[in-house]
Amino acid sequence: MDQLRREIPLLLRCPENHLSKSLLNPDRGWDVAAPFEEQRKLSLLFLENKGREERWLMVVQKEKDRKRGAAQLRQNYYAKTCPNVENIVRKVVTKKFKQTFVTVPAVLRLFFHDCFVNGCDASVIVASTANNTAEKDHPDNLSLAGDGFDTVMKAKAAVDAVSQCGNKVSCADILAIATRDVVALSGGPSYEVELGRLDGLSSTAASVNGNLPQPEFNLDQLTAMFAKNGLSQKDMIALSAAHTLGFSHCGKFAKRIYSFSQQSSVDPTLNQSYAVQLQSMCPKVVDSRIAIDMDPITPRIFDNQYYKNLQHGMGLFTSDQVLFTDPRSKPAVNFWAQSPSSFQRAFISAITKLGRVGVKTGSNGNIRRDCAIFN
Ligand code: HEM
Repeated sequence: MDQLRREIPLLLRCPENHLSKSLLNPDRGWDVAAPFEEQRKLSLLFLENKGREERWLMVVQKEKDRKRGAAQLRQNYYAKTCPNVENIVRKVVTKKFKQTFVTVPAVLRLFFHDCFVNGCDASVIVASTANNTAEKDHPDNLSLAGDGFDTVMKAKAAVDAVSQCGNKVSCADILAIATRDVVALSGGPSYEVELGRLDGLSSTAASVNGNLPQPEFNLDQLTAMFAKNGLSQKDMIALSAAHTLGFSHCGKFAKRIYSFSQQSSVDPTLNQSYAVQLQSMCPKVVDSRIAIDMDPITPRIFDNQYYKNLQHGMGLFTSDQVLFTDPRSKPAVNFWAQSPSSFQRAFISAITKLGRVGVKTGSNGNIRRDCAIFN
């Protein structure tokens, strides 16, 4: 912290450094050269931290760390050490996909939950021990489908079985590649994946607290949580389309169909016939293991149907439907509902940014031999 304090006057003198300049001089207005995206993100950071210097400085430090880690990522990172890694992983993912479609949503959600807690470092895959309750055993992660973990473990084994690649590729990168593959396998866009992440050195259930979005969140809460990870509101709306795939347990939205408010037992923003359909699939007394499709129209295709559903009041969670009911996010929903190619571009950009969150490099990480166990 002291070192950072010493650095701040230097940063202030540096005309390019919008982060420190803007954060430390919020009343002087923004440097016109600062990108809008960054200005908005920094405004949020400033508001969050106003008057609390220590936290404020830590935010600056975190942003610097994030950029340093992300700077190391590149395509073809393993060109010399394991040139075939992407093919090896794709083969395993394709085999697993043929065995069960659940592979797709399971891997995609696993990647998201990994990146939002301590960065994309495969910390979500680590198993709990007698002395440590790991991320995966936090209540928010208990519904992560086992097929996601299994895919990464199998891909890691396949990579390590190639002698040149033995223990050269991180679990975090394998998860990033597998995520790219499941999106493409289910009809979504193909994109180049950036690599070069190390695996994290810690995984605690406590670190999950308050770091994953909840299905009851409103737009401000969603936006703030994504902003904390360097992602814009546009990125958040694009990434939410992941709910075009996969399943939800009834309990996650039961309040919306049975006990919404004093005035109305059903959430009025929910399409009324969809609400009836949901009530029949999820009766009041229901086996807690029952899960239903989140996209009732094309549940196995990664497409822009998610946005069309929102236009018809068929977003399953409040956090989905609010993207249409809130006038600030509605234009993006309408745009992507009618332009699949624009949506695909936005999704590629957002998931690439997601993959840069909290990347570990140098002594902050290593390559785990077993993705579930620290070396
Ligand atoms: C925007 C805020 C988000 C909230 C509040 C949220 C919440 C949830 C909840 C409650 C479930 C159901 C879990 C269950 O009952 O088993 C779920 C499922 C899922 N989420 Fe999200 N999520 C969000 C964003 C994302 C993002 C950004 C991604 C990926 C990029 C994602 C991918 C998924 C997938 C694929 C599933 C289905 C999982 C499966 O079938 O196993 N979600 N989400």
